[in-house]
Amino acid sequence: ALERTLSIIKPDAVAKNVIGEIESRFEKAGLSIVAMKMVQLSREKAEGFYAEHKERPFFKDLVDFMTSGPVVVQVLEGENAILANRDLMGATNPKEAAAGTIRADFADSIDANAVHGSDSAESAAREVSYFFADDEICARA
Ligand code: CMP
Repeated sequence: ALERTLSIIKPDAVAKNVIGEIESRFEKAGLSIVAMKMVQLSREKAEGFYAEHKERPFFKDLVDFMTSGPVVVQVLEGENAILANRDLMGATNPKEAAAGTIRADFADSIDANAVHGSDSAESAAREVSYFFADDEICARA
């Protein structure tokens, strides 16, 4: 099915100047960027985004990291976009990420892991609308 998913290029990858290389992987895999912006997240915005992890021991480090520099937030659209993006990213922990995935190639640690991608249709819907109004998403198909 044609899906949309939320993708974030995290502060570590922005600092490494690999925004273009990462976007290129999405495009080469047949995903279209239908919305995009660079933002410096406030603590409040980052905490709200990761609210489901609020009770986890890594929550504070996660918010510290995600507010440590600008991120690039985009909506990817395509056939099975949610799973396609997760395949491109590789495992959350870069030590476990398959060769050739974004995290294997660009991530340094489980926190500085280069990218985020929605993990289900439900989270994609919530995460896309957390960052983008309907009129900020452009029809491409
Ligand atoms: P992300 O997909 O952005 O969602 C939550 C993030 O928490 C995850 O990527 C990791 O960067 C970070 N994180 C840190 N420690 C863990 C952990 N033990 N399990 C899952 N995610 C973790």
